[in-house]
Parts: sequence; C-alpha cells; structure tokens
Amino acid sequence: MSHYKLLSVVGARPQFIKLAAMHRAIAKIPTLKHVIVHSGQHYDFEMSDRFFEELTIPKPNYNLEIGSDHPVLQMAKCMTGLVDVFVKEKPDIILVYGDTNTTAAAAIAAAKCNFKTAHIEAGLREWDKSIPEEVNKLLTDAVTDLYFTPTETGKINLEKEGKTQNVFVTGDISLDLLYDYTPESKISVPEEPYIFMTCHRAVNTDNPQNLKQILLAAEAIAKPVIFALHPRTKKVIETHFSDWHADNVTIIDPPGFWDTQTYIKHAEFVLTDSGGIIKEAYFHKVPAVILDKQTEWVETVQEGWNVIAGPDKNAILRAVHNWKRPDYHSNCLGDGKAGMRIVEQIIQYLEKLNINK
Ligand code: UD1
Repeated sequence: MSHYKLLSVVGARPQFIKLAAMHRAIAKIPTLKHVIVHSGQHYDFEMSDRFFEELTIPKPNYNLEIGSDHPVLQMAKCMTGLVDVFVKEKPDIILVYGDTNTTAAAAIAAAKCNFKTAHIEAGLREWDKSIPEEVNKLLTDAVTDLYFTPTETGKINLEKEGKTQNVFVTGDISLDLLYDYTPESKISVPEEPYIFMTCHRAVNTDNPQNLKQILLAAEAIAKPVIFALHPRTKKVIETHFSDWHADNVTIIDPPGFWDTQTYIKHAEFVLTDSGGIIKEAYFHKVPAVILDKQTEWVETVQEGWNVIAGPDKNAILRAVHNWKRPDYHSNCLGDGKAGMRIVEQIIQYLEKLNINK
C-alpha cells in the first residue's frame, strides 16, 4: 500500500471529539501520515486544549489563531491561513468535520487549491438557511469529493441533491469514542433525579427572548438543573439577564467530553440545542428535549427518545411532562466502527486515483 498524507482541519469543540476518533483509526495504519491543523476558532482551555489532553489527540501541527469574529471574517482568516499550509504540506486528501465556520472555510479553500476533500458528517440537513450551521453544511457538501454520512437519512438527503457518487454511510464518528473506552468519572452528580442542560445555538443566544424562555423553563422544572454554560451564552446572560438566579439551577463551566457523558448518563432528562448532545443522549438512552425547532438527528425523534420543543417555556415543560419511554431503541446512529470505515474508503479512493494518474 502506498504512503498517504491526510490533513485534518478542525477548530471548534465538536470537531476535536470527531478528530479524536478519526486520529485513532488513522494511527492504526502505519502507512498513513496525519497532519492536524487547528483554525483557532475555539481557544479557551475548556473549549479546546482540554479535549486534546483528555482525548489524547496529538498537538496540532499548525494553529491559525483565527479567534472569534464575524463569521465571514473568521472564514476569510481561516482560508487565508490554510492556503500556506496546504501549499507547504501538499496532502493527498483534506478531512473536514461537521458544520462549523472552520469546516466550510476549509472545504472551500481545499477545493480552490485543487485538493481532494472528505467531509465527515456529510448529508445532514436542518432545512433552514437562517441557521449558520446549515449554510456550512451546504457549502461543504457542494465542494467535497467524498461524503461520509452518519445515517441513511444523510444518504437520502444527498441523493435528493444529485450526490450519489462516493457517498458512504459510516455511522457517527464521535460515538466511536463511547464504544471504545469510557474512563472512570471523577465528578459527582446529584443523587436525586436531575436535568442536564446546555444551550449555545445562535437562534437561542442571538435572540435574548428565546434564551429567556429557556431560562424560565429551567426555573419552572421542580428538579435540580445542571446548566453547562457555553461562553457565548454566558455573555448574553451577563448582558441581558445579569440578575437572573434560580435556586434549582446550578451553573457550571463547559465540562470536558467524559464529564459531559457522565452528566448525560445519570440525568433524568437532557435539555439541549447541541447536535452532539442530542445524539449522545440517544446513545445513553436518556431523553433529550430539543431547544430548537428542528434537528438533523431526525431518527432520535422518530423513535420517540427525543422531543422537539423549541425555545418555548410551555412546550419544554409539556415535553418533559408528557414523555413516555419508547420500547424500541435501534442504535441507528452508529456502532463504533465509523473511523475504520472512513479510513478504508479513503485509502481505496486514493489507490484508485493513483492507478488512474
Ligand atoms: C460553534 C459552531 C457550532 C458548534 C459550537 C460548539 C459555527 C457557526 N458554530 O459555535 O456549530 O456547535 O461551535 O461550541 O461555527 N467564545 C469564547 N471562547 C472560545 C470560543 C468562543 O469565549 O474559546 C465565545 C466568543 O464570544 C464567540 C462566541 O463564543 O464570539 C461564539 O463562538 P463561535 O466559535 O463563533 O461559535 P459557537 O457558538 O461556539
């Protein structure tokens, strides 16, 4: 087998998780070299370095330090930085993950520089272009060469757009980590039934009235709520609801990956607008009430494990109150082998390209 250089571009918290699983799979094949580029979109220890440490991801070979900015400027800085890296490294293929500004910027830069690209988590759609992540999904899938989609739904969505070549259903990559090994947790969770809550999507943080509905719902739930606070949400609360306080709500800094799993696993319910936590809750068979009007993880809702409530106090409370445990769980999001499937397909694709050169 030939030697190949794979270059991953990541920048935000959920991508470090996906990268961790991919790196483990890539490292199993000695003929593959893996170069890691961090865009710097996330930079706080809790949002970035902690994930590299606890998921034992090698330190990135490059950090573009784009930081927080208007999304257009963030993407422009990311693309500019990547051109130099791509020219220097000349990878055989560039791997992009998920749907962040870093994902779309890397996919566009790769296409414009004529490099082959693989999109890990392709094909997911939320059907609303006002969602920043939806635009990133569409841009990335418009230019990628290989589509690694976690679900059959993703494959169908791609088919509808005429994308039928080089589409592979692999299962969700981040779930590989949960199948692999779960370390002992060092945190203690409440003994009584509690709710684990996260909220950071633009629809909820850019509209303080939506966030207010979510905070009111948390307050009205007669149970302890552990609220893991994203820095973006923290800023909005400090600006608009600085005197907000609820006796039942404990605010914590964003936890690492393993502590998040512990909070989810022992919770009675999860309230979240995070795609990652929606699927992790499903994996742990814990119901998630989705603080958004749609989700790309539609299977979790169809099976009755998760419920879409949106940023609406009464709908959230109703969803918690009316939820009934389904008697079916198909485990449809992944079997822990996504990373190896992706690596195998990438090698096959590159071998074919080599033969045809
Ligand atoms: C980004 C992704 C989102 C993903 C999320 C995970 C996009 C469009 N969105 O959203 O899909 O679910 O990451 O967290 O790319 N901030 C800090 N420290 C940090 C990072 C961010 O304080 O290390 C604050 C800044 O005020 C920044 C804000 O959070 O402006 C938003 O950060 P940004 O990376 O633009 O988007 P996220 O909301 O994190």
